[in-house]
Amino acid sequence: MAAPPTEHEILDVNRRYHDVAAHDYDAKWGIDYGEVGAGQVLGKLTKLLGANPGPYPRSLEIGAGTGYFSLNLLRSGVVGRATCTDISPGMLAALDANARRLGLDVETVACDAAELPFDDESFDLVLGHAVLHHLPDLERSFAEFARVLRPGGTLFFAGEPSRQGDRIAAWPKRAAVRAAPLWRRVVKARPAFPAEGAPASADDAEHALESVVDVHAFDPGDLQRLMQGAGFTDTRVQGEELLANWFGWFNRTLEASANHDDIPWLWFQYAFRGYLGLQKVDRALLEPRLPPQVFYNLMIAARKP
Ligand SMILES: C[S@@+](CC[C@H](N)C(=O)[O-])C[C@H]1O[C@@H](n2cnc3c(N)ncnc32)[C@H](O)[C@@H]1O
Repeated sequence: MAAPPTEHEILDVNRRYHDVAAHDYDAKWGIDYGEVGAGQVLGKLTKLLGANPGPYPRSLEIGAGTGYFSLNLLRSGVVGRATCTDISPGMLAALDANARRLGLDVETVACDAAELPFDDESFDLVLGHAVLHHLPDLERSFAEFARVLRPGGTLFFAGEPSRQGDRIAAWPKRAAVRAAPLWRRVVKARPAFPAEGAPASADDAEHALESVVDVHAFDPGDLQRLMQGAGFTDTRVQGEELLANWFGWFNRTLEASANHDDIPWLWFQYAFRGYLGLQKVDRALLEPRLPPQVFYNLMIAARKP
């Protein structure tokens, strides 16, 4: 049995994988900095922070990637000044390029979430999206979030896989693997992978790391304990996206099986619009009624006393 990776290895794999992933990250995940993107980001914030969150004069994003959350929040006026951190310099270079294109001013700092190079009590909002599950030392990271927040400051993280939701999401993925050959024939797309024996590129090798960068899935209680252990109050955990997520994973698994350039534009439109429609169904009907752990994504919020 292989030894579990050390903390250092987890950080290193995350940096290398995300450095390579950065160049087509926004296209792969449909990240948008216009009305749709701002609507998505604000929609998540308002679920836990109430209508019209902020404004927060200074925000710090952890694992900011290409800027999905911070750039959309700057554009919407929810944050005044944004500092964006990430372990991957490649991701931050993409974020800087996005900010320049949008005419936004942000500070980017490459660092590990568990060792933040900022003074105590310097931010009004510490936030992140889809990052906690990559962090090898969660206790130390949460202690850092508490340290750099001002008293009364807000903690917000979204897009974290729930343990049960992750298990359930394996079903649509498996179904899509079985359906993929037929789907590729219907949309007339070639398979994605190079012919057997073809030399793998360095990028292929880095992409193969995708399966090892995710180190946690959470139960709501795990996240409550982390927040409370770091001294936060008013701690909340909520689940989001069920049908939207199954639909999304099914389609993404199909898409990953094909040569991207062969997939018709109409397919992407269908997948995107369907996802947005099912998000509305989840929000209106399922999120208020079902327990957080059945959803694919967990989100948390808390306050520093
Ligand atoms: C799934 S991506 C999410 C990016 C962005 N937040 C978004 O929603 O598009 C996870 C990000 O966390 C970063 N990351 C991974 N481990 C980290 C660590 N220990 N400290 C800071 N960032 C980390 C990765 O480099 C990557 O950019």
